[in-house]
Amino acid sequence: MPSDITTEHSRKILVTSALPYANGSIHIGHLVEYIQTDIWVRFQKMRGHRCHYVCADDTHGTPVMLRAEQEGIPLEALIERVHGEHFRDFSDFSIAFDNYHSTHSDENRVLSQGIYRRLDQAGLITKRTIEQLYDPEKEMFLSDRFIKGGCPKCKAEDQYGDSCEVCGATYAPTELINPYSALSGATPISKASEHHFFKLGECEAFLKEWLNPEGDNPPLQLEAANKMNEWFEAGLRDWDISRDAPYFGFEIPDAPGKFLYVWLDAPVGYMASFKNLCEKEGLDFDSYWQPDSDAELYHFIGKDILYFHALFWPATLKYAGYRTPTKICVHGFLTVDGQKMSKSRGTFIMARTYLEHLNPEYLRYYFAAKLSDRIEDIDLNLEDFTARVNSNLVGKYINIASRSAGFISKRFDGQLASTLEQDGAKLVADIQAQAAQIAARFEARQFSEAMREIMALADQANEYVSDKAPWAMAKQEDQKQQLHEVCTAIINAFRLLSIYLKPVLPKLAGEVEAFLNIAPLQWQDIDTLLIGHTINPYRHLVKRIEQKQIDAMVEASAATLQQTKPSPARHGEAQQKKGSAAKKAATAKDDDSMIQFDDFAKVDLRIAKIVKAEHVEGADKLLQLTLDIGEAQTRNVFAGIKSAYSPEQLEGKLTVMVANLAPRKMRFGLSEGMVLAAGPGGKSLWILEPHEGAQPGMKVK
Ligand code: 2FM
Ligand code: ZN
Repeated sequence: MPSDITTEHSRKILVTSALPYANGSIHIGHLVEYIQTDIWVRFQKMRGHRCHYVCADDTHGTPVMLRAEQEGIPLEALIERVHGEHFRDFSDFSIAFDNYHSTHSDENRVLSQGIYRRLDQAGLITKRTIEQLYDPEKEMFLSDRFIKGGCPKCKAEDQYGDSCEVCGATYAPTELINPYSALSGATPISKASEHHFFKLGECEAFLKEWLNPEGDNPPLQLEAANKMNEWFEAGLRDWDISRDAPYFGFEIPDAPGKFLYVWLDAPVGYMASFKNLCEKEGLDFDSYWQPDSDAELYHFIGKDILYFHALFWPATLKYAGYRTPTKICVHGFLTVDGQKMSKSRGTFIMARTYLEHLNPEYLRYYFAAKLSDRIEDIDLNLEDFTARVNSNLVGKYINIASRSAGFISKRFDGQLASTLEQDGAKLVADIQAQAAQIAARFEARQFSEAMREIMALADQANEYVSDKAPWAMAKQEDQKQQLHEVCTAIINAFRLLSIYLKPVLPKLAGEVEAFLNIAPLQWQDIDTLLIGHTINPYRHLVKRIEQKQIDAMVEASAATLQQTKPSPARHGEAQQKKGSAAKKAATAKDDDSMIQFDDFAKVDLRIAKIVKAEHVEGADKLLQLTLDIGEAQTRNVFAGIKSAYSPEQLEGKLTVMVANLAPRKMRFGLSEGMVLAAGPGGKSLWILEPHEGAQPGMKVK
């Protein structure tokens, strides 16, 4: 059956991955995203689409500035060095950017300042004076992460300016006990300064329209769209897009001493990198970025930076007169052996350390075997990693070639037969028949499904080899023709599977092409077979992973991290402006994931009786719950469960609530806790209900 390539027009696709910060190294957590994007891009290119993949270093902001100061080198020198390191790490994992640029570039300055001007002309910039903490010694304003002091709640010392790592309280830096600057130790003073704000609230109607949840091709996955709705419910606030000097960034036009906040110019870095590519390759930049562009625009990002990409970015693009993203593809975080990457366990693995011990294609394959189109965390289980690579990649796929190639070389002088025997013809036809299905999996980023389907075909090929037993045929001179046709079918099966795996294993595919003596494989090659063709002698293509390699990598990771600072990819000051839930998840990513019993005991979980459940006027998602938790006063909680429950279904029921969650002021009133529910959202949401006998107010422990 022919693949569907001929029926599809050639698409114009621009793809990006998030820009890594220029003050640290790439680790395997980062690689989930770059490998995911690269596989998708390679697939699109193999399909014959005009697909461009751009990225850059994210160079601006205070942490990069301070890093250069710490190292005692000029900023430009730091940026250049890290750019080289990042680019080498990516290249060695076969991440094939069409351009890897920098946000500290002329293209980005012109585009970012231009966007600011257009937003201003559209009436979406407002200025007002705000008070902020200021370091009188360093003579600079301090963002929350650079202010420390005692927690106002539990009194623990040396806590950051926005939240306490001991008791989990969140607060304003001005509430800290004896605050001090983490940069100089000086006591910060409060100082006024005029800031520029982007009026995000005025973009709400547009953003809701862009979200297009009922449309054929919505730009966000369901979980991400649900998150957007929560943000809409909470109300969109103006976004502070200016920073005062000294700041490493672009000056705001006509505002001396004021700079664009790094998160304003960072996504513009996507455009800037593409602009730079257009200049090098003579591409038409405008045709990709104008509002009625016929190109598709895909951003691959981690779940922690959704706020910036799904709210600010489409809004800035729209009101600056550009097109908006076609899709924002959000992925989860990486855990290793079921836990957050840990320095002490040696599972915080830098890209370079991995490369010193293991073949990058193993990790590409493993991530592909785990990645889906959902925003789920994925786990690199080191034992499973070894087992899967050895059994699937080597044992199933590579084995197909190694079981037949020797006969072709030795008995037939490298030449394949010109016909296939019946079962062999059926085998290759079966593999070809899966082309459209596997292509659809790649297109939808359901890579784990694609790998499963490909490995099922590899199983089928291996069964064929076992059934035909070419080694036995080789002993019978009268079966020579049969042997030739069987081995030719096996080599063809191997070639077809190599086409399917090429987006995932590009380096290996190159070696397969050299072995088969063929031009670079394209998706449409699935429709043809290698007949009468001469191949090269087979040399073993992939080695099995040995336990000692894993051990050495883990040991080296524990040692390396004493010296290197991993990129605070999700720790930059940018983090400070995100929702605190995202911030918590992101921060925890780099630390040990286990909590002590004491940590758990801090969460006051109680059985709650839903005394009353009501609709909330003007709220699409919320129900207002009145909860009895055995106290004199009932609690008022706004829960985002309207899509799954009507008030009548809930009244009189028992559930579980977090009783000591800091009260949250919402547009509709104060929410005094949270009820627990499971499920991705929408109709698929289930609140927890205790077994019969539990009473309101009982502690859940
Ligand atoms: O979170 C981060 O690692 C940021 N450097 C990502 C920026 S992506 C884009 F907006 F530039
Ligand atoms: Zn505390």
